[in-house]
Amino acid sequence: MNFTRVQAHRGASGYAPENTMAAFKKAVDMKADGIELDVHLSKDGHLIVMHDETLNRTSNGKGLIASYTLEELKTLDAGSWFGKEFKGEKIPTLNEVLEFICKTELFINVEIKAGYRIYPNIEEKVLACLQKYNMLDRCIISSFDHYSLFRVKELNSNVKTGLLYGASLYEPWEYAKSVKVNALHPLYLTLDKHFIEGAYAHNLDINTYTVNDEKVMGELAAARISGIITNYPDKAKKIVSEIQE
Ligand code: G3P
Ligand code: MG
Repeated sequence: MNFTRVQAHRGASGYAPENTMAAFKKAVDMKADGIELDVHLSKDGHLIVMHDETLNRTSNGKGLIASYTLEELKTLDAGSWFGKEFKGEKIPTLNEVLEFICKTELFINVEIKAGYRIYPNIEEKVLACLQKYNMLDRCIISSFDHYSLFRVKELNSNVKTGLLYGASLYEPWEYAKSVKVNALHPLYLTLDKHFIEGAYAHNLDINTYTVNDEKVMGELAAARISGIITNYPDKAKKIVSEIQE
């Protein structure tokens, strides 16, 4: 098995509409090691899989996800914007994705969008959902909201968490300790040799986003990065295998 694990970002979102079952199924077909997805809460408290907090870009709906019930969200088309062959693709719930993924070998990276200030108790709901599908030991929970990650650890200290950020932080392993995360999830542009060595010396994995350039994939595989988060899992898997086998 290769050292670097490839995560399909919002599913295999280079080939199918992001954060839909079509994109997650493609990720499995392409033999990704894991999938990444984003979650919000609907008006009636269901975990909804979508990237933006509004419906406008990736469905035929308008306005905030949080303004609609699950039943209302299920009437929307989340595929046509990407290509007419995906017409009728629905917005999935985290339950539906886990129901599918738990029967595969893949792990799941659940990115909590916004956190508890906007979505009260979203951390409890995500953990309960993962537990229902027996996925607590095959997941990592990530967020740009670091209070949300800290809350996850308070609720279950065994669950792995990943610190998302896009800036060039100074020695982030020190900060990572206070948030109690297991991994750093930096924007790939912030990475260099000093940073990679520093993180590994502090027992932190590095799963970097969003790497769609094949040259960069090659450099990261050569540097034995823990994880590559990409819209093109097939390309990353091929490059990682060539370099690490
Ligand atoms: O988890 C990596 C990546 O998904 C973070 O950024 O905006 O694509 O959710 P974003
Ligand atoms: Mg994300």
